[in-house]
Amino acid sequence: MTEADFRDVYSQQGRYDELLLPHVFGNASDVDLAAEVMRRCYGDPSTPGLDVCDLGCGTGRVTAALAPYAASLCGVDSSQAMIVAFTERFPDSRTVLADLPDAVTGFEPASFDVIGAFWSLSYPIMAYFESLDTDGITPHLDRSRAVAAARRLIDRIVRLLKPGGHLLIEFFDSDSPEQRVVSRLWERLAPHPGGDRSFSRQILLDALTRAERDGRGTLQVRHFDGIALAPDADAARGWFLHVHAKSHPLILNDRRTEPDVATFIAANQCRDGSVHLPAGVYLIEFTAGEDTDA
Ligand SMILES: C[S@@+](CC[C@H](N)C(=O)[O-])C[C@H]1O[C@@H](n2cnc3c(N)ncnc32)[C@H](O)[C@@H]1O
Repeated sequence: MTEADFRDVYSQQGRYDELLLPHVFGNASDVDLAAEVMRRCYGDPSTPGLDVCDLGCGTGRVTAALAPYAASLCGVDSSQAMIVAFTERFPDSRTVLADLPDAVTGFEPASFDVIGAFWSLSYPIMAYFESLDTDGITPHLDRSRAVAAARRLIDRIVRLLKPGGHLLIEFFDSDSPEQRVVSRLWERLAPHPGGDRSFSRQILLDALTRAERDGRGTLQVRHFDGIALAPDADAARGWFLHVHAKSHPLILNDRRTEPDVATFIAANQCRDGSVHLPAGVYLIEFTAGEDTDA
């Protein structure tokens, strides 16, 4: 295992698409969930007139639900490979290759009608609490400072919304059976700050609840149960090891990893060989008030 293999899923061109499993929540994919919110808020995308930004845009997979509404489209990601893929998909877009907090600080307040953040916000939030590299996880000792910095990041994102604008977030469900397996893998490197992996979601919701209480908008949180659909056990294994565990050498080399993952996959394998991993998503919407200076 070389250093380069760790986080290949984001840094190597095409790797994310190759490993990604479609997620279905009822009859809707995660992209459909975002599209439904856009339709409810803005109707059919007949006249694209909105300023749209996707934070942690990746290849632009979910951005596709927002793009038809965009007069201007901006994608932010810290991975060069992702930004290249995003630009190929949306050649007229603006891109920012940066760590999310830096990108957010670089935008003017009230810049966007719609901000998306799909499966991406947990990373910059957790980066305030711990550092992750090939040697493992190093907790940051000043917890209250980390909480304040994470809240400030969310606050700044809210302030990027124009009056009446929408922040639309898809956030992983740490309590789903799929994610409980993932938590077990990562917990072997270090205990989760705040006790468990719901912590990053709690930080996010706490910051948005405060913004709502301050009269800066309204918060809506919905949860959907669903499944991640793997065509076979190999694809499910790749999903756990190389997406969820990001090919981390300490996880891949741990002798408990393969049996843990294989047992869970076997328990969820269908007769035709496909694997239906029980998953969940939080769909979080924050709608800015008409007076965002409140
Ligand atoms: C799970 S992927 C989701 C990508 C895309 N939103 C989607 O749903 O397909 C997470 C994305 O967040 C990006 N990312 C992770 N940490 C980041 C950070 N600190 N700043 C900016 N982007 C980050 C990764 O490079 C990756 O593209």
